[in-house]
Amino acid sequence: MVSYKELGLVNTREMFKKAVAGGYAIPAFNFNNMEQLQAIIMAAAETKSPVILQVSKGARNYANATLLRYMAEGAVAYAKELGWEHPQICLHLDHGDSFELCKNCVDMGFSSVMIDASALPYEENIALSKKVADYAHQYDVTVEAELGVLAGVEDEVSAEESHYTRPEEVIDFATRTGCDSLAISVGTSHGAYKFKPEQCTRDPKTGKLVPPPLAFDVLHEIEKKLPGFPIVLHGSSSVPQEYVDMCNKYGGNLPNAIGIPEEQLREAAKSAVCKINIDSDSRLAMTGAIRKHLAENPSHFDPRQYLKPAREEMKKMYIHKIVNVLGSDGKAE
Ligand code: G3H
Ligand code: 13P
Ligand code: ZN
Repeated sequence: MVSYKELGLVNTREMFKKAVAGGYAIPAFNFNNMEQLQAIIMAAAETKSPVILQVSKGARNYANATLLRYMAEGAVAYAKELGWEHPQICLHLDHGDSFELCKNCVDMGFSSVMIDASALPYEENIALSKKVADYAHQYDVTVEAELGVLAGVEDEVSAEESHYTRPEEVIDFATRTGCDSLAISVGTSHGAYKFKPEQCTRDPKTGKLVPPPLAFDVLHEIEKKLPGFPIVLHGSSSVPQEYVDMCNKYGGNLPNAIGIPEEQLREAAKSAVCKINIDSDSRLAMTGAIRKHLAENPSHFDPRQYLKPAREEMKKMYIHKIVNVLGSDGKAE
């Protein structure tokens, strides 16, 4: 049993309290490899932003669970080396799908876990989320649970159709599970294809596709039911057109990739939404930069040659999100 406190990590409790009161959101960035982690830490250290490092089940399978945990521990030391005196870094399990997986993460030094039982019937979701919360809270590890189902299909996270969170259920759910934060469904979804073109309208000025707005009415209803309770938005990549174009220009094939407009995320961050999950935008920035570099430098074969610009591009993207979308810069001096 390793406590995250010995590793210099923090749970989400204080982060969320300040974020809800301050009208901003904490970035939750997924990582699967060293370059993503470096870029996240460089961006957070440079902007003095609290940050949540997210590890999914897929990331653990890809990179090795133990290695990822040690990388997160190293990230705290690295952040200090970069001159960030008091790093506020949380290590979080993203979309935990069983009690055993959540327990394993608590036991190996995660400071926060998500139990995603949202696809189960209501009472079963409550029972499993409560079981995880009861265990995690013994070690002061915070717990995110989910109510409502996001649309979209992405690797191990899938749901045939979305169901918005029902505001009339949230008090009962939060009270009976004892969760510390609640992931809700208000129109976001995972991956780079969040909407079909036929769901969008076309902006007459720019010719760009404009997706339907998030269900802010549902979000506000939930806020009214649970005043000050931390709300989480998954599936919040904006799928920047410049990265989609970069991928496509240099040999990729990502037709009609559409994300959540950043103005809407900015608006959500000002509400009780205090954790915004972003993974796909990092994938797009990395892949776009690698494709561009290799197309322009066909003789290069040292991975450092193409991973360095990829890391730079991700860092730029993370800083943009922190400063211009979430507003979490300067909140962890
Ligand atoms: O919400 C899902 C995250 O983007 C993680 O995706 O399961 O492919 O690692 P993954
Ligand atoms: P995106 O696919 O929109 O980046 O969502 C990531 C996410 O929700 C991770 O849990
Ligand atoms: Zn998610």
